[in-house]
Amino acid sequence: MCRPGNFEVYYSINRWMDVSVEVNAELAMSQWENLRQTYLKLGHTVEVMEDVPGLPDMVFTANAGIVKGNKALISKFRSEYRQAEEAYFAQWFAAQGFEVVHPKLVNEGEGDFLWTGSVMLGGSGFRSELGAGDEVTELLGLPTETLELIDPRWYHIDTALTILDEHTIALVPEAFSERSRQILDGLGLQQIHVSVEDAEWFALNAVSDGKNVVVAEQAVSFQAQLREHGFTPVPVDISEFLKSGGGAKCCTLILNR
Ligand code: ARG
Repeated sequence: MCRPGNFEVYYSINRWMDVSVEVNAELAMSQWENLRQTYLKLGHTVEVMEDVPGLPDMVFTANAGIVKGNKALISKFRSEYRQAEEAYFAQWFAAQGFEVVHPKLVNEGEGDFLWTGSVMLGGSGFRSELGAGDEVTELLGLPTETLELIDPRWYHIDTALTILDEHTIALVPEAFSERSRQILDGLGLQQIHVSVEDAEWFALNAVSDGKNVVVAEQAVSFQAQLREHGFTPVPVDISEFLKSGGGAKCCTLILNR
């Protein structure tokens, strides 16, 4: 996670970001701290990096890269506003002893690549380039399946789909093209379909450890669906980050894959 010391919305690169809407920096910090405490209470270890003035989106570490073992594939951002983050993320991973590798194509890290346990589900259409999945395969040795995102509300795959455990995913079907839905159906995973309303609260920008699911508190129907399927929803308020088009998962990068 990256502490949001400089969080604000001064540019707009997704349909949720409105520069005329004020961000409450103090509230953002306390929501972020609450998210960190939530992970600690669930027994997870959290590494914290510090953000950099002028780079308000650094808090969204899901976009820092993709980690596999000792290798960190650093993101290559589509927007110029975020490209300066790449060097800081690369520096952080190198300092932690990771082997740092860089893609050639636009690749927004775990924001667009989610690991099911056997395949990496990639999102394309708004941010990561179509060929980014092949580079993930080449550089990290992970099989990938690239899906097409078609609705600007869910511009990264981690806003449209959550991996709950090895057998179960949750998604908002409206976010995906017809062809991509067929690919998803072919994966043989149990699917929980989430309402558009909950998905607009970033319900799917959730973090599951296979049992506990850290999820936007406003997404109440999804929480009921989770309980029905044997998961334990752990609601958090991430309202300030929604103003930037981010949620709990966006603020989180998995390091121990
Ligand atoms: N404002 C950020 C952007 O548009 C939000 C990133 C959200 N991250 C994510 N993993 N979905 O780039």
